[in-house]
Amino acid sequence: SLLPTGCLVGRRLVCAAATSSTNSDAFRLAEEGAPEGTVVLADSQSGGKGRLGRRWESPAGVNLYCSVILRPPLLPHEASQLTFLSAVAVARTIEAVTGLHPGIKWPNDLLLGERKVAGLLNEMSAETDRVGFVILGIGVNINMQAHQFPDGLRHPATSLLLASGTTVSRSVFTVRLFQELAAGYERFLREGFDPVREEWAGRSTAFGREVAVDTGAGILRGPFSGIDRDGALLLQRPDGSLERVLSGDVTVY
Ligand code: BTN
Repeated sequence: SLLPTGCLVGRRLVCAAATSSTNSDAFRLAEEGAPEGTVVLADSQSGGKGRLGRRWESPAGVNLYCSVILRPPLLPHEASQLTFLSAVAVARTIEAVTGLHPGIKWPNDLLLGERKVAGLLNEMSAETDRVGFVILGIGVNINMQAHQFPDGLRHPATSLLLASGTTVSRSVFTVRLFQELAAGYERFLREGFDPVREEWAGRSTAFGREVAVDTGAGILRGPFSGIDRDGALLLQRPDGSLERVLSGDVTVY
Protein backbone atom coordinates (compact mmCIF):
# COMPACT_ATOMS: atom_id res chain seq x y z
CA SER A 1 0.00 0.00 0.00
CA LEU A 2 1.04 3.63 -0.42
CA LEU A 3 0.46 4.39 3.23
CA PRO A 4 3.46 4.79 5.52
CA THR A 5 3.37 2.26 8.36
CA GLY A 6 1.35 3.28 11.39
CA CYS A 7 -1.25 5.16 9.31
CA LEU A 8 -3.87 2.49 8.68
CA VAL A 9 -6.18 3.51 11.50
CA GLY A 10 -7.90 6.78 10.67
CA ARG A 11 -7.00 6.77 6.96
CA ARG A 12 -10.71 7.46 6.58
CA LEU A 13 -12.34 9.41 9.36
CA VAL A 14 -16.06 9.97 9.79
CA CYS A 15 -16.71 12.67 12.41
CA ALA A 16 -20.00 13.48 14.10
CA ALA A 17 -20.82 16.17 16.66
CA ALA A 18 -23.50 13.87 18.06
CA THR A 19 -24.59 10.35 17.24
CA SER A 20 -26.35 7.48 18.93
CA SER A 21 -23.38 5.08 19.03
CA THR A 22 -20.17 5.16 16.99
CA ASN A 23 -20.16 1.35 17.12
CA SER A 24 -23.56 1.18 15.41
CA ASP A 25 -22.44 3.75 12.79
CA ALA A 26 -19.22 1.84 12.10
CA PHE A 27 -21.11 -1.45 11.85
CA ARG A 28 -23.39 0.01 9.16
CA LEU A 29 -20.45 1.55 7.27
CA ALA A 30 -18.62 -1.77 7.37
CA GLU A 31 -21.69 -3.57 6.02
CA GLU A 32 -21.68 -1.07 3.16
CA GLY A 33 -18.05 -1.98 2.42
CA ALA A 34 -16.03 0.74 4.19
CA PRO A 35 -12.32 -0.13 4.02
CA GLU A 36 -10.23 -1.41 6.89
CA GLY A 37 -8.93 1.44 9.01
CA THR A 38 -12.08 3.57 8.71
CA VAL A 39 -12.86 5.26 12.04
CA VAL A 40 -16.07 6.82 13.31
CA LEU A 41 -15.39 9.53 15.89
CA ALA A 42 -18.07 11.45 17.80
CA ASP A 43 -18.04 14.29 20.29
CA SER A 44 -21.06 12.85 22.11
CA GLN A 45 -23.29 9.76 22.03
CA SER A 46 -26.92 9.56 23.07
CA GLY A 47 -26.92 5.75 23.15
CA GLY A 48 -23.33 4.84 23.98
CA LYS A 49 -23.17 1.06 24.43
CA GLY A 50 -21.22 -0.73 27.16
CA ARG A 51 -20.52 -4.38 27.64
CA LEU A 52 -23.31 -6.75 28.77
CA GLY A 53 -26.03 -4.40 27.52
CA ARG A 54 -24.94 -1.55 29.80
CA ARG A 55 -24.90 2.13 28.92
CA TRP A 56 -21.73 4.16 28.35
CA GLU A 57 -21.90 7.75 29.63
CA SER A 58 -20.99 9.94 26.66
CA PRO A 59 -21.21 13.68 27.44
CA ALA A 60 -20.02 16.23 24.83
CA GLY A 61 -16.78 18.17 24.85
CA VAL A 62 -14.68 16.07 27.20
CA ASN A 63 -14.03 12.46 26.16
CA LEU A 64 -13.07 10.18 23.29
CA TYR A 65 -15.64 7.92 21.64
CA CYS A 66 -14.49 6.09 18.53
CA SER A 67 -14.98 2.87 16.58
CA VAL A 68 -12.43 1.35 14.22
CA ILE A 69 -13.29 -1.01 11.34
CA LEU A 70 -10.82 -3.87 10.81
CA ARG A 71 -11.01 -6.82 8.44
CA PRO A 72 -8.60 -9.31 10.01
CA PRO A 73 -7.86 -12.72 8.49
CA LEU A 74 -9.20 -14.58 11.54
CA LEU A 75 -11.68 -17.26 12.49
CA PRO A 76 -14.71 -15.95 14.42
CA HIS A 77 -13.59 -17.50 17.72
CA GLU A 78 -10.20 -15.72 17.41
CA ALA A 79 -11.70 -12.24 16.96
CA SER A 80 -11.47 -11.40 20.67
CA GLN A 81 -7.67 -11.29 20.24
CA LEU A 82 -8.25 -7.79 18.90
CA THR A 83 -9.86 -6.64 22.15
CA PHE A 84 -6.61 -7.41 23.90
CA LEU A 85 -4.72 -5.59 21.17
CA SER A 86 -6.86 -2.48 21.65
CA ALA A 87 -6.51 -2.64 25.46
CA VAL A 88 -2.72 -2.63 25.05
CA ALA A 89 -2.90 0.28 22.57
CA VAL A 90 -5.07 2.34 24.93
CA ALA A 91 -2.76 1.57 27.88
CA ARG A 92 0.31 2.63 25.88
CA THR A 93 -1.41 5.83 24.78
CA ILE A 94 -2.41 6.78 28.33
CA GLU A 95 1.19 6.21 29.44
CA ALA A 96 2.70 8.18 26.58
CA VAL A 97 0.36 11.16 26.85
CA THR A 98 -0.06 11.46 30.64
CA GLY A 99 2.71 9.44 32.29
CA LEU A 100 0.04 7.58 34.28
CA HIS A 101 0.28 3.77 34.44
CA PRO A 102 -3.08 2.11 33.79
CA GLY A 103 -3.80 -1.53 34.60
CA ILE A 104 -5.91 -3.79 32.41
CA LYS A 105 -8.76 -5.72 33.98
CA TRP A 106 -9.98 -8.75 32.02
CA PRO A 107 -11.40 -8.61 29.51
CA ASN A 108 -11.48 -4.97 28.56
CA ASP A 109 -11.40 -2.39 31.34
CA LEU A 110 -8.57 0.13 31.74
CA LEU A 111 -8.11 1.12 35.38
CA LEU A 112 -6.24 3.86 37.19
CA GLY A 113 -5.97 2.61 40.73
CA GLU A 114 -9.30 0.89 41.29
CA ARG A 115 -11.20 3.22 38.98
CA LYS A 116 -12.24 2.63 35.39
CA VAL A 117 -10.93 5.19 32.89
CA ALA A 118 -11.68 3.48 29.57
CA GLY A 119 -13.81 0.67 28.17
CA LEU A 120 -13.73 -1.39 24.99
CA LEU A 121 -16.63 -2.96 23.13
CA ASN A 122 -15.88 -5.08 20.09
CA GLU A 123 -18.55 -6.24 17.69
CA MET A 124 -18.09 -8.67 14.83
CA SER A 125 -19.78 -9.87 11.70
CA ALA A 126 -18.99 -13.45 10.80
CA GLU A 127 -19.33 -14.78 7.26
CA THR A 128 -19.83 -18.51 7.80
CA ASP A 129 -16.33 -19.57 8.93
CA ARG A 130 -14.38 -16.29 8.60
CA VAL A 131 -14.52 -12.91 10.30
CA GLY A 132 -16.18 -10.42 7.94
CA PHE A 133 -15.18 -7.38 9.95
CA VAL A 134 -14.56 -6.36 13.54
CA ILE A 135 -15.56 -3.05 15.11
CA LEU A 136 -13.21 -1.93 17.89
CA GLY A 137 -15.25 0.43 20.05
CA ILE A 138 -13.16 2.57 22.39
CA GLY A 139 -14.37 5.01 25.04
CA VAL A 140 -11.83 6.96 27.12
CA ASN A 141 -12.76 9.35 29.92
CA ILE A 142 -10.33 12.15 29.17
CA ASN A 143 -11.42 15.46 30.70
CA MET A 144 -14.65 14.35 32.37
CA GLN A 145 -15.30 16.12 35.70
CA ALA A 146 -16.51 14.44 38.88
CA HIS A 147 -20.04 15.90 38.61
CA GLN A 148 -20.44 14.43 35.10
CA PHE A 149 -20.37 10.85 36.37
CA PRO A 150 -23.81 9.45 37.14
CA ASP A 151 -24.64 8.33 40.65
CA GLY A 152 -24.81 4.65 41.44
CA LEU A 153 -22.22 3.41 38.93
CA ARG A 154 -21.57 -0.30 39.39
CA HIS A 155 -17.85 0.33 39.30
CA PRO A 156 -16.10 3.52 40.41
CA ALA A 157 -14.88 5.56 37.43
CA THR A 158 -12.35 8.32 36.79
CA SER A 159 -10.87 10.39 33.95
CA LEU A 160 -7.35 11.32 32.88
CA LEU A 161 -8.03 14.84 34.16
CA LEU A 162 -9.17 13.64 37.58
CA ALA A 163 -6.28 11.19 37.91
CA SER A 164 -3.51 13.50 36.67
CA GLY A 165 -4.79 16.94 37.70
CA THR A 166 -4.24 18.37 34.21
CA THR A 167 -6.39 18.79 31.13
CA VAL A 168 -5.36 16.40 28.36
CA SER A 169 -5.62 17.38 24.67
CA ARG A 170 -8.19 15.15 23.02
CA SER A 171 -6.56 15.53 19.60
CA VAL A 172 -3.09 14.63 20.85
CA PHE A 173 -4.56 11.60 22.62
CA THR A 174 -6.61 10.51 19.60
CA VAL A 175 -3.77 10.78 17.08
CA ARG A 176 -1.45 8.80 19.37
CA LEU A 177 -4.13 6.15 19.92
CA PHE A 178 -4.63 5.68 16.16
CA GLN A 179 -0.86 5.27 15.72
CA GLU A 180 -0.64 2.73 18.55
CA LEU A 181 -3.60 0.78 17.15
CA ALA A 182 -2.13 0.74 13.65
CA ALA A 183 1.35 -0.27 14.80
CA GLY A 184 -0.14 -2.95 17.07
CA TYR A 185 -2.37 -4.32 14.31
CA GLU A 186 0.47 -4.39 11.76
CA ARG A 187 2.61 -6.31 14.23
CA PHE A 188 -0.30 -8.65 14.98
CA LEU A 189 -0.66 -9.44 11.26
CA ARG A 190 3.08 -10.19 11.03
CA GLU A 191 3.72 -11.99 14.33
CA GLY A 192 0.34 -13.21 15.58
CA PHE A 193 -1.23 -13.06 19.01
CA ASP A 194 1.67 -14.09 21.28
CA PRO A 195 3.37 -10.66 21.58
CA VAL A 196 -0.03 -9.09 22.35
CA ARG A 197 -0.81 -11.72 24.96
CA GLU A 198 2.57 -11.19 26.64
CA GLU A 199 2.25 -7.44 26.85
CA TRP A 200 -1.37 -7.76 27.97
CA ALA A 201 -0.39 -10.12 30.80
CA GLY A 202 2.36 -7.74 31.92
CA ARG A 203 -0.18 -4.93 32.16
CA SER A 204 -2.97 -7.00 33.71
CA THR A 205 -3.96 -6.10 37.28
CA ALA A 206 -5.00 -9.65 38.12
CA PHE A 207 -2.36 -11.82 36.48
CA GLY A 208 -1.17 -14.46 38.96
CA ARG A 209 -3.51 -13.21 41.68
CA GLU A 210 -6.45 -14.88 43.36
CA VAL A 211 -9.71 -13.85 41.68
CA ALA A 212 -13.43 -14.55 41.80
CA VAL A 213 -15.33 -14.50 38.50
CA ASP A 214 -19.07 -13.98 38.49
CA THR A 215 -20.16 -15.72 35.28
CA GLY A 216 -23.85 -15.07 35.78
CA ALA A 217 -24.28 -18.82 36.30
CA GLY A 218 -22.12 -18.94 39.44
CA ILE A 219 -18.87 -17.75 40.99
CA LEU A 220 -15.55 -19.38 40.13
CA ARG A 221 -12.42 -18.79 42.19
CA GLY A 222 -8.71 -19.41 41.72
CA PRO A 223 -5.43 -17.87 40.60
CA PHE A 224 -5.74 -15.97 37.30
CA SER A 225 -3.33 -17.86 35.02
CA GLY A 226 -3.65 -15.92 31.75
CA ILE A 227 -5.73 -15.81 28.58
CA ASP A 228 -5.96 -18.30 25.76
CA ARG A 229 -6.18 -17.73 22.01
CA ASP A 230 -9.94 -17.25 22.21
CA GLY A 231 -9.53 -14.53 24.85
CA ALA A 232 -10.93 -16.80 27.56
CA LEU A 233 -9.70 -16.19 31.09
CA LEU A 234 -7.79 -19.18 32.49
CA LEU A 235 -8.39 -19.99 36.13
CA GLN A 236 -6.34 -22.60 37.91
CA ARG A 237 -8.51 -25.18 39.67
CA PRO A 238 -7.49 -26.86 42.96
CA ASP A 239 -6.56 -30.05 41.05
CA GLY A 240 -4.16 -28.01 38.86
CA SER A 241 -6.29 -28.10 35.74
CA LEU A 242 -7.23 -24.88 33.92
CA GLU A 243 -10.81 -23.68 33.69
CA ARG A 244 -11.74 -21.46 30.72
CA VAL A 245 -14.13 -18.57 31.36
CA LEU A 246 -15.48 -16.75 28.31
CA SER A 247 -17.36 -13.93 30.00
CA GLY A 248 -17.99 -12.55 33.47
CA ASP A 249 -17.03 -9.91 36.05
CA VAL A 250 -13.71 -10.33 37.86
CA THR A 251 -12.95 -9.37 41.46
CA VAL A 252 -9.32 -9.48 42.62
CA TYR A 253 -8.46 -10.30 46.21
C1 BTN B 1 -17.56 -1.19 28.55
O1 BTN B 1 -16.63 -0.98 29.31
O2 BTN B 1 -18.64 -1.68 28.97
C2 BTN B 1 -17.40 -0.85 27.09
C3 BTN B 1 -17.59 0.61 26.80
C4 BTN B 1 -17.36 0.96 25.34
C5 BTN B 1 -17.73 2.40 25.00
C6 BTN B 1 -17.33 2.80 23.61
S1 BTN B 1 -17.55 4.55 23.32
C7 BTN B 1 -17.29 4.33 21.60
C8 BTN B 1 -17.99 3.03 21.21
N1 BTN B 1 -19.38 3.27 20.87
C9 BTN B 1 -20.22 2.70 21.74
O3 BTN B 1 -21.47 2.77 21.69
N2 BTN B 1 -19.52 2.04 22.69
C10 BTN B 1 -18.09 2.13 22.47
